[in-house]
Amino acid sequence: MVPPSILSPVTRHAPLAAAILGGLRDVEEIFAKQLRSDLPAVNELAQHVERYRGKMLRPTLLMLSGIASVGAGDGAPIKKAHRICAAVGEMIHMATLVHDDVLDEAETRRRGRTVNSLRGNETAVMLGDWLISNSFHLCSLVGDTAVNVLFGETTNTLCEGELLQLSRREDPTLDEVTYMEIVRRKTAALVATCCSLGARLSGASDEVQTALGLYGERTGCAFQIQDDVLDLVGEEAVVGKTLGRDLEKGKTTLPVILLLRGASPWERSEVLQIIHRRDGAALLERLRRSGCLDEAKATAQSLVESAKSALDVVPEGPARELLRELADEAVRRQA
Ligand code: FPP
Ligand code: MG
Repeated sequence: MVPPSILSPVTRHAPLAAAILGGLRDVEEIFAKQLRSDLPAVNELAQHVERYRGKMLRPTLLMLSGIASVGAGDGAPIKKAHRICAAVGEMIHMATLVHDDVLDEAETRRRGRTVNSLRGNETAVMLGDWLISNSFHLCSLVGDTAVNVLFGETTNTLCEGELLQLSRREDPTLDEVTYMEIVRRKTAALVATCCSLGARLSGASDEVQTALGLYGERTGCAFQIQDDVLDLVGEEAVVGKTLGRDLEKGKTTLPVILLLRGASPWERSEVLQIIHRRDGAALLERLRRSGCLDEAKATAQSLVESAKSALDVVPEGPARELLRELADEAVRRQA
């Protein structure tokens, strides 16, 4: 459930650890109850995607933001609404992964087979639809229209990010600004919503809600850059999912944007040929030699630093400290 990297700093502060771990158990229960169907065929699929629930990063951030935003050191500010919204955030994330694996024709996710590889695209598309539908059904149980509106805006943004990315496939002229816009929408928007919503549900000030939203957006962007780096340099056995999909699917990610930007016309044409041939080994060799992987990682690290700075207006305490440690983990992670 919670990886050691997240757990270890939590355990330094026992009341916070109890709040987060207890909260995550409740979230799992809400989640499983929502996805119970009277049809065995549906339940079987729901159980399969349970494995997609890996780090539970979004629920953790939502609850931790709820605690940090009011300067608490224990779970006192965490209410039922936090737990439901945490489950909603994770369910939306899961729906997007099921659909993303269809788009990427991925075979492995969280060390298991993807739904599309096991059951085909039709089932995976419908399962993703069922998950997104369930997430909004669950969300309406909070009984606060504003929460539904917020999650609705977020899923709109997320889909727009994917559509923008699709519109620029096989396009080596994609620049860093557009890449960051894709990343902000497809990945960071949901993380930002989880953080700002956690604060809002705790009754935090507008200033603190905004700060936590910014923290989530910047951490989410850094997380996706690291994801794109791992897609190039990671080992499938460690990362637990199909890698090399960005090159295969014609997605131009930050390390390649930087490589093309710094290349001479001659080098540029060589790199374009490498991309055209889908020659992952040659591309990786060029990326390593040019220092562009390190440059991409440095961009992610600087986003992490500005995410941590956004927390300056959040009350001091162990929850704020843990949020800072989690931001570092977004770029340190190897899986
Ligand atoms: C991961 O990208 C993809 C996302 C964070 C968003 C995917 C969103 C959709 C497919 C839209 C579906 C929307 C709904 C509402 C169901 P990646 O391929 O770089 O990450 P990966 O390495 O984990 O596959
Ligand atoms: Mg993918």
